[in-house]
Amino acid sequence: MTFTQIFAHRGSAGTHPENTMISFMEAARVGADGIELDVQLTKDGEVVVIHDETVDRTTNGKGFVKDYLLQELKKLDSSHKFSKEFGVTNIPTLKEVLEWMQGNSLLLNIELKNSVFFYPGLEEKTIALVRAYGMENRVIISSFNHYSIVHCYRLAPEIETAPLYRDGLYMPWVYAESIQSKAIHPSIKAAPDAIIKSSIQAGIAVRPYTINEESKMKSLYSLGCSAIITDYPEKAILIKRKIYGIH
Ligand code: G3P
Ligand code: CA
Repeated sequence: MTFTQIFAHRGSAGTHPENTMISFMEAARVGADGIELDVQLTKDGEVVVIHDETVDRTTNGKGFVKDYLLQELKKLDSSHKFSKEFGVTNIPTLKEVLEWMQGNSLLLNIELKNSVFFYPGLEEKTIALVRAYGMENRVIISSFNHYSIVHCYRLAPEIETAPLYRDGLYMPWVYAESIQSKAIHPSIKAAPDAIIKSSIQAGIAVRPYTINEESKMKSLYSLGCSAIITDYPEKAILIKRKIYGIH
């Protein structure tokens, strides 16, 4: 039996400031199989790790990521709701994360946040970094922008890709194959058990997001889902150990 893998969503976003190094380090500490993060481009074309198109929600700044130079962005505090617990932290570059990952064996799901702004060159820059750090076999590139997914496959067929989607797709495993993806990353709302089973049977991995409830974790583990993407990797691991009887 293959055990369900656990991907820490924006790091351990339920317990640490999302998309920060301390959040990724926490995911590693608790034994997650992988981390998920979001990337966008700064005004000077650097690949940075942040979820929203603006810095408003997760930092003490205001405005669009694309309007900031990297050195300006780096001055912002991205500890947001966790500032009392963890103090000041900042927005990492993808390069910093990849550098840190040289010292561990985590998998990395890079979500290209290019559905609102297309960020020309984001795919090329992301792939160049992944290759520079020899991470081709540890990275999965995902996006809600499926044109971008196909573009990535054409640029780097050796790197796994996965379309993200929120609404029901008819036979998503057929769709995934049509765009050369080996996995799908659906919202759990768009992933009933039958779809998960059929996809896995067809050789397409399924990594639904965002799985934070114990009951949902248990049912996905029992189903043999390929992976879950969760804000609470420590909790997910404890439940996984119980379900599978592993230590
Ligand atoms: O990759 C899964 C999930 O992160 C996609 O949605 O909005 O949390 O980036 P979002
Ligand atoms: Ca994401």
